[in-house]
Amino acid sequence: MAKLTLIRGGRVIDPSQNLDEMVDLWLEGNRVLGTEPIPGAVPDRTIDATGLIVCPGLIDVHVHLREPGNEEDETIATGADAALAGGWTTIVSMPNTRPPIDTPAAVEFVILQAKRAGKAIVLPSACVSKNRAGEELAELGKLYEAGAVAFTDDGAPISHAGLMRRALEYSRMFDVPIFQHCQVNELTAGAVMNEGDVSLRLGLIGMPPVAEEIMVARDIMLAELTGGHVHIQHLSTARSVELVREGKARGVRVSAEACPHHISLTDENLAKFDSNFKMNPPLRTARDVEAVIQGIVDGTIDLIATDHAPHSPEKKNRELDQAPFGILGLETMLPIVRQTLIEPALMTWPEVIAKLTIEPAKLIRVEQYKGHLKPGAEASVTLIDPDRAWTIDVADFRSKSINTPYQGWSVQGRAVATIVCGEVRYLLDPHRETMMA
Ligand code: DOR
Ligand code: ZN
Repeated sequence: MAKLTLIRGGRVIDPSQNLDEMVDLWLEGNRVLGTEPIPGAVPDRTIDATGLIVCPGLIDVHVHLREPGNEEDETIATGADAALAGGWTTIVSMPNTRPPIDTPAAVEFVILQAKRAGKAIVLPSACVSKNRAGEELAELGKLYEAGAVAFTDDGAPISHAGLMRRALEYSRMFDVPIFQHCQVNELTAGAVMNEGDVSLRLGLIGMPPVAEEIMVARDIMLAELTGGHVHIQHLSTARSVELVREGKARGVRVSAEACPHHISLTDENLAKFDSNFKMNPPLRTARDVEAVIQGIVDGTIDLIATDHAPHSPEKKNRELDQAPFGILGLETMLPIVRQTLIEPALMTWPEVIAKLTIEPAKLIRVEQYKGHLKPGAEASVTLIDPDRAWTIDVADFRSKSINTPYQGWSVQGRAVATIVCGEVRYLLDPHRETMMA
């Protein structure tokens, strides 16, 4: 018989069913049983969730895992382990590895390595173009059959408008979204940060916000033309938010994500030339931050994703203009989102959790069994201590890299247990678990 797990005494939040209640949650094997009392049932394992939020396992649709090719930065196993510590039960890997994930065999490799690791579930995304070269369409149908849940050339934009058009057309056949890293390369050459007052003052080359916005506008128009679904990755400027808002109002199939760093930091943070504040798209102005937050609050931005982008100290510790773009995100999302959205009462926990569970599940078309706690759903559950105080310290990270801008921050809110398919794979406080003999 499948093992019975009882998660007792927590605040169960499942935005998909408007559930926010102090109830017990039962799991049977790798499936959710439900929140109804089961007369006479004896659990094999009980987890004491007193004082905790119990919610569907968090889903991050934007994670760089570096395997194959750059295992010195991260591996599928270390990245998927870092995910567990951050409360994520499913992550979507980006295909900008070496070689890139542009063949069915490569997609299968990622899935296999993730299964071997036995940490968070990894659902791969695959390249839009062969070798991520931006010229020829990859074999999207075969990649989809191998298990790709999205197509993207992330790290780089799909610059060629004709290729983007065809990608959106073909992807309709499998109902798979195209994730786009919006950037007009001709406007960002040599840049290391946002273009504006701060870049002028620091004497650094900047990326103008329009470099992102032009491509957001173009791709919304191409989605409108083709009926395909474009998903705007790591949206970072005020005008991008407006463009998505207008596109949605016209009924275009456009969705968008925002990253914790784009709502908690600004380009002023680059004043010390610290490469842990260098990522692409770059940190913008306070006005952009406010607009992106507003977009999250009003639903223009569908979900929160980290763009977890590990780079080894050896690479990241170079001069600002030499260091690669990208920062870690998996292990710091919850406290940063709490501080940015919940503490100032802009959003409630159920509203935030929707953007980390059911919304990403819908984006990658797995909402039948992931992203919620309805009976029969995958038994992947995250337990959050919403007010737990802790200090972010790279020494405690499970990621192989340490490139975070939040080192030393005193924060609140942390995942304390992460259950994947009925297995407790991360448990910060062992005393919460009781096994029946
Ligand atoms: O900052 C970034 N890092 N932005 C990207 O688009 C790619 C990513 C990476 O792969 O390091
Ligand atoms: Zn990107």
